[in-house]
Amino acid sequence: MQNTTRLIATSLITLTVFTSKPILNAHSQSGDPLVFKPVLADLKLLKAANIPVLYKDEETQVGYAVLNHAAENALSDMAHAAGRCGNFEALDEMPRDLISVREQLQALNTYNKRNQILSFSQVGAMAERVEITEALAQLDANKIRNTVEFLSSFPTRYNRGANPNSHIQPFMDRLAEIAKQANYPIHIETIDHKSTPQKSIKLTIQGSTRPSEIIVLGGHLDSISGFMGMGGKAPGADDNASGSSSLVEALRVLTLQPQPERTIEFYWYAGEESGLLGSAEIAKQAKADNKDIIAVLQLDMTMFPGDGVLKVASMTDFTSRWLRDYLVAANDTYFHATVQEDKCGYGCSDHASWYRQGFPTLFPTESKFASSFQDIHTPKDVISPVMSFEHAKFFSKVALTMAMDLGNSEQRQPY
Ligand code: BES
Ligand code: ZN
Repeated sequence: MQNTTRLIATSLITLTVFTSKPILNAHSQSGDPLVFKPVLADLKLLKAANIPVLYKDEETQVGYAVLNHAAENALSDMAHAAGRCGNFEALDEMPRDLISVREQLQALNTYNKRNQILSFSQVGAMAERVEITEALAQLDANKIRNTVEFLSSFPTRYNRGANPNSHIQPFMDRLAEIAKQANYPIHIETIDHKSTPQKSIKLTIQGSTRPSEIIVLGGHLDSISGFMGMGGKAPGADDNASGSSSLVEALRVLTLQPQPERTIEFYWYAGEESGLLGSAEIAKQAKADNKDIIAVLQLDMTMFPGDGVLKVASMTDFTSRWLRDYLVAANDTYFHATVQEDKCGYGCSDHASWYRQGFPTLFPTESKFASSFQDIHTPKDVISPVMSFEHAKFFSKVALTMAMDLGNSEQRQPY
């Protein structure tokens, strides 16, 4: 059920991208529009679906193809049969020529190599710092619950809803209340988007000594229910009031600490459920502005302990080896949870937007993909006794540690 819903949602995104920018809007004899979609996909998948590969990168095993409806359906079916929703990425626009396809594939290849560098020796064991241990102990699971209650009480936070920003100002008021505690200035702003009328929220803690070095902590604030948001109420408690609220609790405790040396940027993204819309624009802009982004943490789905309380997953696709090792080291020193590696199998959340622009990313989530909460994108995604705010607190710990440890160190991905 979950897979089917998300398969439809994923196809829809592809469809939306390309109906808003039709590539070739020829009409067949029956009058149906023929829309062609350029994609990057797993070579094996393309082969299995019998789709001609126009260009391929042997190293990453990624191929470029242009899909018509039949080919798209065939690819979706194959991907679905493999237990995944996607495993192919729609390209933003039709590449100019095969040279630009090669450039895109090579860029992806470069990011992949850079991000998979064996770097554990450089991460090594994490030395405990008592101020971090003490700060972690101040995180409060009840406060996470309170924020999830607040966010999931809006009928929907859907980016294509009649009122896509109804939750934005009330949520920002809560952030402002927290920001007041800090003895340094905190900047809170909304970010307008071209691809959606919904706004993202950005909160900045300027670094005291190295403000140009940035640590990004984010999650999506929007929710969805059903196909095109037609499934009624979208409380989105686990997906993703939970990750958003884990971030708020990390922020609360962070504001009680001395100002970090590096800049910490918190984001609550718009329109993730319609295709990573807010984060895609934000990450593209960061790349265009040549920002020195040290790390990007994505929190999406943090409170359903599908594999057991404090048994979490760290996704290996669209994330960086260095930061995954960093998480393991931090877990050994501070969290003492069980971290299992797993994959979404496609760009399932906003970290993929940053990864595609070449930034180092980390995506820890509530459980392995297969055991994650099954009622997301339905009115049943609500707080219930199966949820655990102790589990959600683990993710606040990750965010707080990245802000306090990485935020006060010289460490960065070894390029
Ligand atoms: N929170 C989900 C992604 C997710 C699901 C992560 C299960 C871990 C376990 C996210 O909000 C989502 O729904 N993503 C879409 C894809 C996106 C490109 C619209 C999905 O999974 O279909
Ligand atoms: Zn979702």
